[in-house]
Amino acid sequence: MRKKVSIIGAGNVGSSAAHWIMAKELADVALIDVVEGVPQGKALDLSQAQPIERSDVHIFGGNDYAATADSDVVIITAGIPRKPGMSRDDLLHTNFKIMSEVVAKVVAYSPESVLIIVSNPLDAMAQAAYKLSGFNRQRVIGMAGVLDAGRFKSFVAQELDVSVENMSAFVLGGHGDTMVPLTRFCTVAGFPVTDLIAPERLAEIVQRTRDGGAEIVRHLKTGSAYYAPSAAAVEMAEAILKDKKKILPCAAYLQGEYGIDGYFIGVPCKLGSGGLEQIIELKLTPEESAALKKSAAAVKELCDVIGV
Ligand code: NAI
Ligand code: 2OP
Repeated sequence: MRKKVSIIGAGNVGSSAAHWIMAKELADVALIDVVEGVPQGKALDLSQAQPIERSDVHIFGGNDYAATADSDVVIITAGIPRKPGMSRDDLLHTNFKIMSEVVAKVVAYSPESVLIIVSNPLDAMAQAAYKLSGFNRQRVIGMAGVLDAGRFKSFVAQELDVSVENMSAFVLGGHGDTMVPLTRFCTVAGFPVTDLIAPERLAEIVQRTRDGGAEIVRHLKTGSAYYAPSAAAVEMAEAILKDKKKILPCAAYLQGEYGIDGYFIGVPCKLGSGGLEQIIELKLTPEESAALKKSAAAVKELCDVIGV
């Protein structure tokens, strides 16, 4: 039987995620939104691309959560995106309200699913979904690190004029200004990037990675990035659906790992059919560890505001 992924929020990220899943023929898709007509229209449009893409998954679009029943994975993108001048944190109250509504319905119809949270501010929304769902931590995972590492990898590949396939990199921490790109774990065809790019230039690339979301918001003016974010969420979903045991940077609920207890933060995670199957504990330098803890403190501040 084919796997099933529900996507809540049929906006830019949600509908692009549906597109990647259809194109990769990964699973049946239920695309849900609160706005009438939008998920219906986008699902119909995608289904008409299927004969061209030679993809035989079923795509449903609608407003009724009954269509999400028994999903293997649910990707939650419902919420408002930021506009120029806004930080991800400015979305907190509105998106928390939306998350509360959405999670209750998702859990009622798919009590065995794995949730991939995308809505911002990411780490606090993942924490909210974890607390609201009552799921164990294996089944609530936040998407940010795959996107942030994707940005870092693309900038380094462009700098060196090499294939993106040569790139490996990890970005840890919260999805915000306190994210922690780990330059010493970034390799190009297995060679340390620190041997290939001068420290000052690498520092500029790290800063551009931190500002990667804002750079796109400044260009778009009416919303935020969606192609790379949706591709990142789908890479996580694929690892779960295919039980790949893939190690990816994801926001996970830490219970003492990295000296952090009771908050979501980006760390290396092994994803398989059980969802979050393992948190990989790297030995960090004192500076990296301090940066991760600073990031966790920023997440805690937001979680305290919404009481999760
Ligand atoms: P969008 O505005 O294009 O789409 C959001 C959709 O959510 C809209 O279609 C809206 O009608 C829907 N929605 C609102 N309330 C809802 C509810 N109660 N139930 C169901 N659907 C509801 O926004 P976009 O660009 O798709 O971004 C979605 C969210 O993802 C934003 O919060 C954005 O900040 C976040 N994001 C997070 C990233 C990450 O790295 N974690 C990357 C990119 C975006
Ligand atoms: C991004 O990093 C807005 O979080 C979103 O593009």
